[in-house]
Amino acid sequence: MLTIALPKGRIAKETLAKFEAAFDEKFVFEDRKLILEKAGFRFLNVRNQDVPTYVMHGAADLGVVGLDVLEEKEYDLIKLLDLELGRCKVAFGLKRGEELDFNKSKITIATKHEKIAKRYFEEKAMAVDIIKLYGSIELAPLVDLADCIVDIVETGETMKQNGLEVGPTIMESSAHLIVNKNSFYAKKDLILDLKEKIEAQL
Ligand code: PRP
Repeated sequence: MLTIALPKGRIAKETLAKFEAAFDEKFVFEDRKLILEKAGFRFLNVRNQDVPTYVMHGAADLGVVGLDVLEEKEYDLIKLLDLELGRCKVAFGLKRGEELDFNKSKITIATKHEKIAKRYFEEKAMAVDIIKLYGSIELAPLVDLADCIVDIVETGETMKQNGLEVGPTIMESSAHLIVNKNSFYAKKDLILDLKEKIEAQL
């Protein structure tokens, strides 16, 4: 049996579709149920940011999570496979017509990706003030909470509709299949077989 933590929503559905094609089974969560057990798999329905926590603690053998979440937290996990789902980038958002002013003595950034933003500026040896937000990041420059933002961009529509422009990209991201290290050694054959079958669906 393999336990797999999936992030609630579209990525979970798209991942289950790949499992359905790979194993010729139907995998659907019933109504409000958070566990789906079938054909040797136990899928868990969890919040995106919680996926690595379940896998780190071994409550799930595997999980599906965006590369940006992994980079932000630097977990000690195995990245098994890029599922090529949920492609997006982590990029700057600037007020329309403005540019990143690298001459400013200190830039204020609003973001949910604190570490990724901090690393970017450390490499440039620039002083930066980071304001941690949990959502609606695009609002921050509009009300002068921050000079600019670092956020996920998929279509760019959210920034556009809020008078922001997509600035430089910091990293590309997509959903990855991750594995708990102990699980990997204890269930290596099962996990490698799974990897092969899912890879064939990409
Ligand atoms: C992300 C991100 C942006 C939006 C970008 O939020 O924070 O707001 O998607 O998408 P777009 O470029 O296609 O407009 P998400 O919907 O993932 O919600 P979250 O803030 O709860 O993570």
